[in-house]
Amino acid sequence: MGKVIIMDHPLIKHKIGIIREESTGTKEFREIISEIAMLECYESTRSIPLEDVEIQTPITKTTVQRLAGKKLAIVPILRAGLGMVSGIQTLIPAAKVGHIGMYRDPESLQPVEYYCKLPSDIEEREVFVVDPMLATGGSACDAIRQLKKHGCQKIHFLCIIAAPQGLERLQKEHPDVSIVVGALDDHLNEQGYIVPGLGDAGDRIFGTK
Ligand code: PRP
Ligand code: URA
Repeated sequence: MGKVIIMDHPLIKHKIGIIREESTGTKEFREIISEIAMLECYESTRSIPLEDVEIQTPITKTTVQRLAGKKLAIVPILRAGLGMVSGIQTLIPAAKVGHIGMYRDPESLQPVEYYCKLPSDIEEREVFVVDPMLATGGSACDAIRQLKKHGCQKIHFLCIIAAPQGLERLQKEHPDVSIVVGALDDHLNEQGYIVPGLGDAGDRIFGTK
């Protein structure tokens, strides 16, 4: 079973508390989503392999450790996942970015894929799939299925808020994926929104409501 990390950190709790508030505006919401994504990225990259490299400091020769030339990619699920990309790029500037476009049909809550553009060598990359909301889990599961079809083998999923049923479904359908969750909420309401949640993440990031 892939590892699941529920972020238990005062900074994340504080930041999630702010974005849950209805009165928080688009600018602050977007900035905080990016900051949380950066903190989650820090946590999820703990196991990335390192290699020893000999260098010369101003004082002496020594051995330092560098990332072992591993290729990485960030794949946001459009739209809301876009809000997490900049925070991750702050820590991994060389990562390539792919995009998977998906929306939830408001009646059936089933994900509908409308776009997919991935780096040509995606199968060689360790992939960080990002989406702030894991509700029923349908969008994340389909996006990860699509990446596996393209040959991806090492996949992480990072979200800000998860509902228990979405997390359970993701673990069941993709037990090999490691998951980082900012906060695990209580339940989904009848419209498929996470409770207490933060509302529609895409609308709040892009100011469309
Ligand atoms: C939201 C969210 C996820 C999805 C989660 O996207 O960003 O992609 O819902 O729900 P699920 O786990 O039940 O699939 P939405 O469909 O609202 O599209 P948007 O990002 O374009 O607004
Ligand atoms: N998508 C969102 O943006 N918010 C939710 O609460 C559930 C799905």
